[in-house]
Amino acid sequence: MLNIAVLGGDGTGPEVVEQGLRVLEKVAGLEGFEYKTTDFDFGGERYLKTGEVLPDGAVDELRKFDAIYLGAVGHPDVAPGILEKGLLLELRFQLELYINLRPVVLYPGVDCPLKDKGPEDIDFTIVRENTEDLYVGSGGFAHKGTKNEVATQLMVSTYAGIERCLRYAFELTKKRNRKKQLTLVAKTNVLTYAHDLWWRIFNEMAKEYPDITIDYNHVDACCMWMVKNPEFYDVIVTTNMFGDIITDLGAMIQGGMGIAAGGNINPETLGMYEPIGGSAPKYTGQGVINPLAAIAALAMLLENSGQEKAGKRVEDAVRKVAGTLDSLSAGKMGCSTSDVGDRVIAEL
Ligand code: IPM
Ligand code: MN
Repeated sequence: MLNIAVLGGDGTGPEVVEQGLRVLEKVAGLEGFEYKTTDFDFGGERYLKTGEVLPDGAVDELRKFDAIYLGAVGHPDVAPGILEKGLLLELRFQLELYINLRPVVLYPGVDCPLKDKGPEDIDFTIVRENTEDLYVGSGGFAHKGTKNEVATQLMVSTYAGIERCLRYAFELTKKRNRKKQLTLVAKTNVLTYAHDLWWRIFNEMAKEYPDITIDYNHVDACCMWMVKNPEFYDVIVTTNMFGDIITDLGAMIQGGMGIAAGGNINPETLGMYEPIGGSAPKYTGQGVINPLAAIAALAMLLENSGQEKAGKRVEDAVRKVAGTLDSLSAGKMGCSTSDVGDRVIAEL
């Protein structure tokens, strides 16, 4: 029995998750596995009503599930940072979801903004460290509000944190079994302490994987290569902050936020899977948002929660349906949110 916590969240989150759950029902029937979903109303609306982002005990309750399926967080009436930090980052940290896995795949028939690049050129995966770096929220202000103000924000890297992330990346590169190439993306020429530690652990661990070719890019150069020669990449491993940035670039070269999915994973316990496009408040309730990213996130959830075959099946259906839409962007698909769900179900 696969036990899934569903956090529809804000804006268009619940709409896209609804389509994902229809797909789940269908694929569970086809593959013959049982599942149970439990809804949680965490997000902007609840916060505005109760002043509470995550109630006491919520994290421990979520911990008991096999996976979390998340729609989106972000509400126009809530100040920036409150929901992002109080919900998304809080769950990443408290549940130690130390891997942020973001595949970058261009499906056939999908428009790519890169000239002369096709599906055979864009198929790689980014492993973003998800619990350290600038995201730990260590720092503060001194002399706030004066012209002497000082603000600090510490970049935190630990041996254990880097090691577990790199271990996952090496194992994933082995499992993918493609070019067997792992690229570390960092900035060792400037961040000569934090990224030197990444560099040393990376090279040390590589000795255990003689079949894997290791490679290194500075993050600025990586942005250039992702646009110029994306076919070069197989697996990229990178820090939290750089991963945040380059995965948005990755989403664009695979056709946009309408298709981009991610998993926040603790390989030993559970994962939280989400479309990475955000809550898109202006499209809420109109039935025009693309649910493929949420359905692709469901595919990742299944693949990483013991239902690999069902996950692959959903991913294949997403691959086929993506090319049938006029565009992947909200309002331009040529059909409605639920039509896209119908097409995926028909394809299954
Ligand atoms: C993401 C988002 C989050 C992040 C925000 C909402 C805190 O941009 O998942 O990439 O920066 O990690
Ligand atoms: Mn981001």
